[in-house]
Amino acid sequence: MTAEDAERIGADVEAARAALYARLPGRPTLFLVAGSGLSGLADLLEDAVRVPFADVPGIPEPAVAGHPGAFVFGRLERVPALVQLGRLHLYEGHAPELVAVPARVAAALGVRAAILTNAAGAIHPLLEPGDLLLIDDHINLMWGNPLLGRALPGEERFPDMSEPYDRGLQALAMAAALELQIPLKRGTYAAVAGPSYETPAEIRMLRRLGADAVGMSTVPEVLAARARGVPALAISLLTNRAAGLSPGPLSHEEVLEAGRRAEQRLGRLIRQIARRIAERGGEPAAAR
Ligand code: HPA
Repeated sequence: MTAEDAERIGADVEAARAALYARLPGRPTLFLVAGSGLSGLADLLEDAVRVPFADVPGIPEPAVAGHPGAFVFGRLERVPALVQLGRLHLYEGHAPELVAVPARVAAALGVRAAILTNAAGAIHPLLEPGDLLLIDDHINLMWGNPLLGRALPGEERFPDMSEPYDRGLQALAMAAALELQIPLKRGTYAAVAGPSYETPAEIRMLRRLGADAVGMSTVPEVLAARARGVPALAISLLTNRAAGLSPGPLSHEEVLEAGRRAEQRLGRLIRQIARRIAERGGEPAAAR
């Protein structure tokens, strides 16, 4: 990002924050991003108010079918939550700093935690399509970082990434999963730019690098959240075995279909996480 880009992104974040602030009937404490095929997560909200991206300056319409663009505000188990429906991706040609604008806006609105969901391919031999994976750590192979260039106001220059995913939120998610008897595995997520799926040789490389799953999102948002001091939690729905690990070719349709099948289970888990947050007086994680 050049100084001018930073200026523009900073102005976009402020304009989007102001637009949402004016439209929302309350202040969100929880930010939730719905991944591919997971747009039903917004249906969990009570008293929902929907603000299409078209009404929010600085946020372009996502291009991929199955990703309608809107913010939905409402109560999730009494916790005021803002859901982002439809992500911006690097593979649409967007710069990482733009992809991270919704997370930056949510942080500027004062959210105390971000829960990011995504669809990912399974690499570890013990992971299977349909599994939910709590992301413990990530490897950024997107060749991009939304924090490049001049630091935006409110963002740390050199954010610590030794604990990219908040341990307190992870413990809360594991406890919620146990309570519901929903298996929740854990592992390392490799983020790539896409849009082509990986080759079998790339998957063998990612495995050797320590990746358990691979996808094309989430990391830009996590980096922006961490730079603004917002604790993050991320859950992947594994929609397929990664390239070369199963006989057939990969298709986006398969990814969306798997998302639709697992949506209810993930929704129940997220609702239970919110319930536990509500029990803690709406404080999602230790302030940091
Ligand atoms: N690779 C990258 N991104 C993905 C995949 C995959 O196999 N499945 C869902 N998103």
